[in-house]
Amino acid sequence: MIKSCDVLIAGTGIAGVYTALNLNKNLNVIMVTKEGLKDCNSYLAQGGISTLLNEDDIESYIEDTLKAGNNKNDKKAVEVLVKESRDNIKRLVNYGVNFDREKDGSLSYTREGGHSKFRIAHIKDETGKYIMESLYKELEKRSNIEVIQHCKLIDIIKKNNKCLGGICRYNAQDIQIHSKATIIATGGLGGLFISTTNYPCISGDGIAIALKNDIEIKDINYLQLHPTVLYEKNETGKRLLLSESMRGEGGIIRNQRGEEFVDSLKPRDVVSKAELEQIASTPDKPYVYLDMTKLDKDFLMKRFPFIYNECLKRGYRMEKDMLPVAPAHHYAMGGIKVGTHGETNVIDLYALGEAGCTGVHGSNRLASNSLLEGVVFGYRCARKLNDELYCEVKEYPSRDKLNEFLKERLNNNYVKLLNC
Ligand code: SIN
Repeated sequence: MIKSCDVLIAGTGIAGVYTALNLNKNLNVIMVTKEGLKDCNSYLAQGGISTLLNEDDIESYIEDTLKAGNNKNDKKAVEVLVKESRDNIKRLVNYGVNFDREKDGSLSYTREGGHSKFRIAHIKDETGKYIMESLYKELEKRSNIEVIQHCKLIDIIKKNNKCLGGICRYNAQDIQIHSKATIIATGGLGGLFISTTNYPCISGDGIAIALKNDIEIKDINYLQLHPTVLYEKNETGKRLLLSESMRGEGGIIRNQRGEEFVDSLKPRDVVSKAELEQIASTPDKPYVYLDMTKLDKDFLMKRFPFIYNECLKRGYRMEKDMLPVAPAHHYAMGGIKVGTHGETNVIDLYALGEAGCTGVHGSNRLASNSLLEGVVFGYRCARKLNDELYCEVKEYPSRDKLNEFLKERLNNNYVKLLNC
């Protein structure tokens, strides 16, 4: 089967969906996703989406991102991320995203590891779910966007270093989707790990396609462990994340002796390493603890309703019980090498979100910079494609206007011309 469109997007997480929504409504868009619409890591994001507070925060936010990334970041990409954050948060609000707010109506901010300030917008402890629900609602209104679920991008169509579309597997059949531009937004590769916060279906599809097609890959050795993932002895695959914002709101990491062995709000790589050192010395108890007990039950239930209930289902009362945690795979900083509009080294092929790598995160992503990356670079990619693919249809000049034009140009010969 062959289909065609202006823009083919693989992946229905925040990068894919936000880009689709920002494409001109006159462009025909096909989105494919290998499982259901909502089976993406964006939907699972708990802590929030980071944003610049005001112009005075630029330097400090850039510095926090670079410090967390061990200065391995692409500085131009970091500047873009920080400086374009607020406009994209406003766009999300315009799409109906209802961020938690203070009594005066301003956004409520939380903090996570590596941030020197409270600058993370959130919606309780399920920010990703609420953002994505608003974006999916918006998607339903767009008649120019067709979403095909359970349809996996397995390859791109490439000729002379130009991408002409993708090949997708749907109901055991291969469909060729021809497109003017193709965007890979299939997420990272966490599903390949035994202990991860990711959905099993997020399994490096973008990297696999890049390997097949000689597409440049960058920083693939930079993988992030999240320090507070609930330890459950016989579980494998996707685990319960205990959001870093729990530490931002006062949670403390302790070892088996109850000691606070690391600053709980250091960047993730520092905290995870300190935990692994502790765990190495207690092989019969391969975990440390997240201690939330100094916080009030009502506050915990209101601020972290999802996590509170998930812990309760497993027998932990957060206000009383220390929560056993261990590091687990969370995020891939590397991916398909891209510029700041998502462009790859193949003409008309783009990669966005966790599938792409601008280098913005360096070797360790700053907390809550991932949803932000999806919207900032997704918006830039959409703008580029709008400029390249969409032409206004100009009105055809009327007969009178044409006559006038000819009269001016042809002078005396005009009459002759009209008569012939
Ligand atoms: C978290 O809530 O701890 C995860 C947020 C992130 O990955 O940035």
